[in-house]
Amino acid sequence: MMKTCNLHYPILGLFIIFGLFVGFSSSLEIGETCNGGSTCDAGLTCQTCSANGNTRPRCTRIQPVNATSKVKGLAFNKYAWLTTHNSFARTGESSVGPANQEDSVTNQLQNGVRGLMLDMYDFNDDIWLCHSFGGTCYNFTAFQPAINVLKEIQAFLEANPSEIVTIFIEDYVTSSQGLTKVFNASGLSKYWFPVSRMPNNGDDWPTVDDMAQQNQRLVVFTSKKSKEASEGIAYEWSYVVENQYGDDGMIAGSCPNRAESSPMNTKTRSLIIQNYFPDNPNSTEACADNSAPLTSMMKTCYEAAGNRWPNFIAVDFYQRSDGGGAPEAVDEANGQLTCGCTSISYCKENATFGSCDVPVLSPPPPASISPSTDVPNTSNDSSTSHLDANLLQARWMLGTMLAAILLLWL
Ligand SMILES: *[C@@H]1O[C@H](CO)[C@@H](O)[C@H](O)[C@H]1NC(C)=O
Ligand SMILES: *[C@@H]1O[C@H](CO)[C@@H](O)[C@H](O)[C@H]1NC(C)=O
Ligand SMILES: *[C@@H]1O[C@H](CO)[C@@H](O)[C@H](O)[C@H]1NC(C)=O
Ligand SMILES: *[C@@H]1O[C@H](CO)[C@@H](O)[C@H](O)[C@H]1NC(C)=O
Ligand SMILES: *[C@@H]1O[C@H](CO)[C@@H](O)[C@H](O)[C@H]1NC(C)=O
Ligand SMILES: *[C@@H]1O[C@H](CO)[C@@H](O)[C@H](O)[C@H]1NC(C)=O
Ligand SMILES: *[C@@H]1O[C@H](CO)[C@@H](O)[C@H](O)[C@H]1NC(C)=O
Repeated sequence: MMKTCNLHYPILGLFIIFGLFVGFSSSLEIGETCNGGSTCDAGLTCQTCSANGNTRPRCTRIQPVNATSKVKGLAFNKYAWLTTHNSFARTGESSVGPANQEDSVTNQLQNGVRGLMLDMYDFNDDIWLCHSFGGTCYNFTAFQPAINVLKEIQAFLEANPSEIVTIFIEDYVTSSQGLTKVFNASGLSKYWFPVSRMPNNGDDWPTVDDMAQQNQRLVVFTSKKSKEASEGIAYEWSYVVENQYGDDGMIAGSCPNRAESSPMNTKTRSLIIQNYFPDNPNSTEACADNSAPLTSMMKTCYEAAGNRWPNFIAVDFYQRSDGGGAPEAVDEANGQLTCGCTSISYCKENATFGSCDVPVLSPPPPASISPSTDVPNTSNDSSTSHLDANLLQARWMLGTMLAAILLLWL
């Protein structure tokens, strides 16, 4: 008898150590309070949203689901891509121009951003990313030479051979072949998706697999019509419809096209951009904008676009939200586009369109001491408080120890 017990002590020890490990060293899941020493899981950051009165720091998503991994091989225009407005205008740069984002383009790409909006100017005998007054870049509004950011994109495409990146150029470049030169110099030209393959009659684009196989994984649009003939750079609004940007694009219930774009419901344009950011970027307000109002505008724009979901969802401060934010809006659009479900997370492999995996509740504690205790409804992630999480962990540990003690007595 004594002998058996001795045999089981190491097991008990293991269980306790494992229990302690899980209790104190785990990183935090979505929605959990994160003001202590623990860090949030990968793909989450710790943030509050005081603009919505939410002052509890919690783990918040900053990455969309990898849609081409969940539903494979569809046409390029059957996916939605997280897009950053003024991707280059990052906080902490020397420019006096306002910042629209907080991290580098490399970091944005690593977080799943696939649409980049870049303002390009002639400046200092080169092409620069800049804000402007009247179409001119000044040294105090300049951010950096465009080639720096283009090289970041090049490195990403090189390292991720199935990923596709789209660039929307707000084009102030007048120097001859200026854009072609800088794209050539960056090493990006070899990924160029040719204008000749872009449908402008409402047809589907090639599939993402085809684009990867042909290594045509860089889609570039310019705002200057003449560049399509002179440099082979696609004129954006021949292929894309786009809603109004800035404050006028944030009026609830309306989704007008921006002046250069055909009306949103123009079906000869296969791609749709949904802009949702104010005239003056505001990092404290962004978490509120990027949450419920963004999703609500997505539905408004869906209707305005003739029941079509957006392919590019463009925001400021893409990491900021009061919950799921822009990444979640992208997941919703991807669900609708790829499988007819309200999120790409609910798509089933090879299932018929509209047949969805309804989310199951998060796993309950593995071992509950008192079966009559209510299990918190954890399907609402944003309401999962740290207290609940600690309670679950405490129960789990107690349960583990009970199991170990039971084992001892066997
Ligand atoms: C996304 O999924 C595709 C398809 O499975 C894969 O090839 C690609 O590497 C994934 N992207 C990232 C950034 O992990
Ligand atoms: C910016 O331009 C002004 C006028 O051309 C010049 O005096 C100033 O030194 C420049 N500043 C920088 C940082 O280059
Ligand atoms: C860009 O590169 C292509 C292919 O190497 C070349 O044919 C073209 O002349 C280059 N254009 C410019 C303006 O440098
Ligand atoms: C940003 O928005 C907050 C409200 O969330 C407001 O108090 C603040 O004045 C705004 N800042 C700017 C620069 O507009
Ligand atoms: C889905 O279809 C692909 C291609 O036909 C096949 O390889 C895969 O096994 C299928 N998956 C399921 C779960 O049926
Ligand atoms: C949990 O909450 C979700 C909505 O947050 C609701 O749809 C679901 O029915 C709830 N489940 C239980 C068991 O209360
Ligand atoms: C989740 O919880 C928040 C805060 O309690 C609440 O405002 C929201 O309506 C809930 N969502 C669902 C789907 O129940």
